[in-house]
Amino acid sequence: MKRRDSMFETTVNYLKDKGMTEPEVALILGSGLGDLANQIESAISIPYEEIPDFPVSTVKGHAGKLVYGDLASKKVIALQGRFHYYEGYDLQTVTYPVRIFKELGVKTVIITNAAGGVNENFTPGDLMIITDHINLTGENPLIGQNLDAHGPRFVDMTETYSKRGQQLLHEIDEELNLSLKEGVYTWFTGPTYETPAEIKFARTIGGDAVGMSTVPEAIVGKHCGLEVIGISCITNLAAGMQSSLNHEEVVEVSTIVKPKFKQLIEKLILKL
Ligand code: HPA
Repeated sequence: MKRRDSMFETTVNYLKDKGMTEPEVALILGSGLGDLANQIESAISIPYEEIPDFPVSTVKGHAGKLVYGDLASKKVIALQGRFHYYEGYDLQTVTYPVRIFKELGVKTVIITNAAGGVNENFTPGDLMIITDHINLTGENPLIGQNLDAHGPRFVDMTETYSKRGQQLLHEIDEELNLSLKEGVYTWFTGPTYETPAEIKFARTIGGDAVGMSTVPEAIVGKHCGLEVIGISCITNLAAGMQSSLNHEEVVEVSTIVKPKFKQLIEKLILKL
């Protein structure tokens, strides 16, 4: 596993030189949700491949740019296209952008994703406030030497997803009537979708949604003291709950949900 800690400085100095100074809020945009970065005003946008030591995204539908600027009267930095474990990156690489956010001075990271609904009360198109997660992969991005400058060896995960963030999302839901759901996100590595038996298992152990991302970034965010807020876009019912699954449907549904999602995120950033 490649140590990336020593690379922070090169990446951070490059981004600061490009004008990405003092972002307050970071956004990680999931499948089909990347367009939100286009709402950022006075934007500075840099393709990942131009950023020294930054990983490069490989999935179709993931644009692969870091975008900085003003959104809802705050300085934000957005990852338009994230890195997934199933692409073959180790977890330190997957979570490298979160460490860069920390080094740039970010206080809050909003992590979004497309997810399958496990909870039988969910419908495709729902947005779910992530209250907690279950890591079913047996992997953890903090395995290896601890980065003491960022956080402790043993991390308290009692409140991984900020209670304040959840509260703000509920307030916005009351104001805008978005019918938000809330629940536990269960992380599988992918790239296969889950089997119906795995979904039954996820539900039995308390999962409400399943997906292939978010948990590594949330763990590292928690490790380095960022306020973590998670939102899932339920794009489909999980395996065994509908006839079949495909990536096109995931992207299609998240595209339909985009206006609602955009409204929610902008209001959230305003209230942070
Ligand atoms: N499973 C895993 N990841 C997903 C799903 C799913 O059903 N939908 C969108 N991302």
